[in-house]
Amino acid sequence: MRVLLTGGMGFIGSHTAVVLQEGGHEPVLYDNLSNADRAVTGRIEQITGKAPKFIEGDIRDQARMEEVLRDEKIDAVIHFAGLKAVGESVVKPLEYYDNNIIGTLRLLEAMRATGVKRLIFSSSSTVYGTPQSLPLRESDPTGEATNPYGRTKLQIEEILSDLCRADPTWSCICLRYFNPIGAHPSGLIGEDPNGIPNNLMPYVARVASGRLPVLNVFGNDYDTPDGTGVRDFIHVMDLARGHAAALPYCMSHEGWKAVNLGCGRGYSVLEIVAAFEKASGRKVPVNFAPRRAGDIAANWADPSLARELFGWEAQCNIEDMCRDGWNFEQHRAAELAQKQS
Ligand code: NAD
Ligand code: UD1
Repeated sequence: MRVLLTGGMGFIGSHTAVVLQEGGHEPVLYDNLSNADRAVTGRIEQITGKAPKFIEGDIRDQARMEEVLRDEKIDAVIHFAGLKAVGESVVKPLEYYDNNIIGTLRLLEAMRATGVKRLIFSSSSTVYGTPQSLPLRESDPTGEATNPYGRTKLQIEEILSDLCRADPTWSCICLRYFNPIGAHPSGLIGEDPNGIPNNLMPYVARVASGRLPVLNVFGNDYDTPDGTGVRDFIHVMDLARGHAAALPYCMSHEGWKAVNLGCGRGYSVLEIVAAFEKASGRKVPVNFAPRRAGDIAANWADPSLARELFGWEAQCNIEDMCRDGWNFEQHRAAELAQKQS
């Protein structure tokens, strides 16, 4: 199948492109490079033996999207493109609504105009807000988002649901990701945020490699076994395989669906630190700091719907996630050292 990956040059999109190519599909990567590097296609080529087609463009450019959907004879769209930094979304809400909401509307209009009505959307477990019970099931109520980024995910889910109700020939699957971490085992692609990372795993990796001095643990007084936050971490390769598994379902079913992609168990911040220390053989010094605004104590998924509908379940464990995250960090550190010399 010919699949358009908006935001396909990013962290999750690039891993999904690898899995799709290996499964015999033809991904077309459409990205404005606002948070990605042009070198990604070459890295995918090193992994799979073939560079995917890359088109530089913005999802808010409807005419261009229509052209691409038509010219590339696209069968389905996986919609990763968006801004995703929670803290930044609080400071720049208009940029987030413009990019994520307006961008999605323009994409949907382009899809309608070209008759491409199959969409998989990158949603997030953030739509559940503060869980009333665990594990989280898709039938649980979606909550109050605590920031503009989270609100864009909720609003897009609702837009897609309205669209499917109005025109039942559409198929829209919202994949609710839990916490993706790790990297492709080659170390060639992964997540390397600019500046100081907001998320736990890239921060821990940089402390282990000595790029940052100490990890601030945000809160050790939560109602969890060791007092630190608990999350359902999922290897990005498992997440990528989840998209490939959702595709046939998306092609053969109509209507709107939300589906969790998680492992179904939680690890605390301190458990992640211990697992990373083991994988890297390095010490990760921690400093206990106050809770971070907007954080919840714990969340993890009930992933059984994805198994039922797509025949998918996560295969990698926390050791795999830390090993591949550490391998990627070492590749990046070596590249940076080479650039500086
Ligand atoms: P990422 O930033 O690495 O990838 C997003 C890509 O979209 C980038 O390559 C960026 O250049 C591109 N992009 C942004 N705005 C665009 C626009 N207007 N037009 C074209 N391209 C644009 O992020 P990621 O971690 O790969 O996340 C992918 C999707 O999954 C995002 O929608 C994100 O909100 C969602 N998500 C991510 C996580 C996570 O922890 N990484 C968790 C839940 C949901
Ligand atoms: C965050 C976002 C969520 C987004 C997700 C993407 C918030 C409130 N939520 O989720 O909307 O979809 O990223 O993956 O930002 N932690 C530390 N020290 C750090 C960094 C994190 O102790 O330096 C702790 C956090 O307090 C939390 C856990 O690690 O308990 C995981 O944090 P993070 O990786 O940022 O993910 P989430 O907060 O789950």
